[in-house]
Amino acid sequence: MIQRQNKPHVILFPSLATQYITPSERDLLANCKAIRALFEKMVDARRNLIKSDPEAAEKKGDLLSILLSDDLFSLDNNMIVDECLTFFFAGSQTSSVTTQNLILHLIKNRKYGDQIINEIEKVVVIPFKEQSNDTSQVWEPTKFLDMIDYEMMSELTFYGYCFNESLRMQPPVYFSSSVCMMEDLDIGGFKIRKGDAFSIDMYRLGNNPKEWKEPSRFYPERFDHNSEYFKTPAGKNRNPYSFSPFLGGQRVCIGKTLVETISKLTLPTLWTNFDMELENV
Ligand code: HEM
Repeated sequence: MIQRQNKPHVILFPSLATQYITPSERDLLANCKAIRALFEKMVDARRNLIKSDPEAAEKKGDLLSILLSDDLFSLDNNMIVDECLTFFFAGSQTSSVTTQNLILHLIKNRKYGDQIINEIEKVVVIPFKEQSNDTSQVWEPTKFLDMIDYEMMSELTFYGYCFNESLRMQPPVYFSSSVCMMEDLDIGGFKIRKGDAFSIDMYRLGNNPKEWKEPSRFYPERFDHNSEYFKTPAGKNRNPYSFSPFLGGQRVCIGKTLVETISKLTLPTLWTNFDMELENV
């Protein structure tokens, strides 16, 4: 879709955009239809299940059941499919790319991987063992998921720095969808006319050398307010919007807290259970 949006014929002759479709766009269209049909099948199956067993919606308790119980959505398959696809695409690639990028940085900077393990031992393993009177010296990485609880997750501060640093360097959503203003605005001398479409570039925000010291260096400590890297190169406080991988305001990512939580479970589990290294580098 984004590639298509930037094609010259679409920009110069918008009315042609619906007439002239390239072969790859035809494939894309076929794929979109196929995935919509697949999702629609799932919606119908769930609707039938709920019809035959009215308690099924509550038992499942997932997004699909919530939408099928909502007056606005329940009878409109298109709206349900739109909503499910948005969640599916917005949530899956972004989360997996973030995990992959962070693993890559940890492989290149082993000391940070060790620091993450130390933090897990301090915050999760030791308190868990004390509570359960477990005196063994070693801990099984595979048991990590049984040990951690929600409160402990919020104490994994250093892990949070690493997660943020990876998002700063390579935000999985590089730029926002188009937005426009309802009135003319002058922001620090930069004029935006009412109705003009523009996009926010999260990659540039996170890699702006005026805001970040050595922006191309993976340095999680820059999120620790005690670090000298917490300030801009000029020694000032950073603009809070310079770190906006989830955008902000009313259109802030709805899955932000979810992905922050999931990441604290998945990455440490992968990191402690596997020895990872880069191939051909
Ligand atoms: C590291 C992972 C993620 C990143 C970096 C991310 C980033 C973003 C960004 C930048 C937007 C705003 C897009 C725009 O308006 O132009 C957004 C919107 C959205 N995200 Fe995420 N996201 C992530 C994970 C997730 C997850 C796990 C879910 C759901 C399970 C999710 C669901 C959504 C939805 C539904 C929207 C649209 C919200 C709206 O327009 O009101 N995201 N995300």
